Amino acid sequence: MLLTRDDWYELSRDVDWELDHVDRATAFPANWTGADGIPEQAWDAWEEPFRVSYRDYVRLQREKESGVKAVSQALVRSGTYEKLDPGHVAASHLHMGTTCMVEYMAVTMQSRMCRFAPTPRWRSLGVFGMLDETRHTQLDLRFSHDLLKHDPRFDWAQKAFHTNEWGVLAVKNFFDDIMLSADCVEAAMATSLTVEHGFTNIQFVALAADAMAAGDINWSNLLSSIQTDEARHAQLGFPTLQVLMEHDPQRAQQALDVAFWRSTRLFQTLTGPAMDYYTPVDQRKMSFKEFMLEWIVNHHERILEDYGLAKPWYWDRFLLSLENGHHAMHLGTWFWRPTLFWKPNAGVSKAEREWLREKYPTWEDNWGVLWDEVIANVNAGRMDKTLPETLPSLCNLTQLPLGSAYSRHELAPHQLTYGGRLYSFDSEVSQWVFELDPERYAGHRTVVDRFIGGEIQPMSLEGGLLWMGLTPDVMGDDVYQYAWAREYAALVETEAGALAGVPVAGE
Ligand SMILES: [Fe+2]
Ligand SMILES: [Fe+2]
Repeated sequence: MLLTRDDWYELSRDVDWELDHVDRATAFPANWTGADGIPEQAWDAWEEPFRVSYRDYVRLQREKESGVKAVSQALVRSGTYEKLDPGHVAASHLHMGTTCMVEYMAVTMQSRMCRFAPTPRWRSLGVFGMLDETRHTQLDLRFSHDLLKHDPRFDWAQKAFHTNEWGVLAVKNFFDDIMLSADCVEAAMATSLTVEHGFTNIQFVALAADAMAAGDINWSNLLSSIQTDEARHAQLGFPTLQVLMEHDPQRAQQALDVAFWRSTRLFQTLTGPAMDYYTPVDQRKMSFKEFMLEWIVNHHERILEDYGLAKPWYWDRFLLSLENGHHAMHLGTWFWRPTLFWKPNAGVSKAEREWLREKYPTWEDNWGVLWDEVIANVNAGRMDKTLPETLPSLCNLTQLPLGSAYSRHELAPHQLTYGGRLYSFDSEVSQWVFELDPERYAGHRTVVDRFIGGEIQPMSLEGGLLWMGLTPDVMGDDVYQYAWAREYAALVETEAGALAGVPVAGE
């Protein structure tokens, strides 16, 4: 008689063995498992809700995979890509360049869980996670390879992490920290629970909806397919948090608070501009802030409450950052556009500004006035004033520019001296993260540190671009060639008659 899955499932996922030739601490070192201070028996309570057998897994994944492939083959033939809005296409360049290798880093993280997780149940689940992430990497590579003939920027799906492009270095720095350098327990808090179960929804749900509205069915389909895997393997965060709450709740609180802030800053860089500026305004489903509030903030608050944790101490600062951080990052990345491998959309035409004002009541005061200066310079033909001559100072934690966490009225520096070296931070929260574990971050040198140290030659913007691997065929420029600025010049001329080229804020 053939047994049903329920008859053998418990046994199969719980296979463990007694070690004869080596003691347990050597086979499962605490700095790999992260289980220091947690009694071995505590892990018996580790239960994942997503009961899947290898056989079921393979069958399901095979179906998903052939679904994505069928759609992509049909669309590549039909020439859909050529009809897409260039602003939207920039979002896919940005995504592929900064995400593909993160998927690959996740393979390593899941492999570590397969080998070192403190319970056999978790180690079994890690196998599926590892296979998932391999699939995600391959999906991104195949998608990008298919489109390479249209744009060399798709080469950056593979290339980006082998360059020194500053934005890529910021992404890599974060995932090196929470995927490659983290022990299993910490990775479960920071990556599984915070990033995969929370923040990836912005990239894989919100952006997938925008992509669908923009007619990019191929990319939308790929994102949604990836999300179905994330929703499953991210589950391993919950039972891990449960165990941690029993034995070291303080550590759980700290790990989640650190990961939540660092994820916020990262997604303000990657997804905020894509959602609120690159996606054509009539195709936007929700603003970045709305999506964050509904999908990430609510969700995170619920987890904290359910498990008896407190909101992060920096909650007010987080809400202020939610209003501003991605606008700051967008203005900064657009201004430093030659240092990007995609073409950013300024996204501040009149219609777009109206949308921004409605979604962010303080936008004009904080950001509109700065864009007005850019517009005036564009319309007066002073393009040199719209381009950088130097590199911005960077945060020693997030690697993002100083002054990019809050509004333009809050640029006070956050600094400390450690081991004789001066460190600067984009916020008091990033400084707090650094101070929790300074040795973890102290040795790293930002792009600007390397520039000042003479590693980047010649010491000019050109030298910097060369060092970052930015060749003319991929180097960023305004995606609409500044066409959006013209409507301001015309309006000022006809209505005001004076101050030609200087727009009035709020119009
Ligand atoms: Fe993934
Ligand atoms: Fe994942």
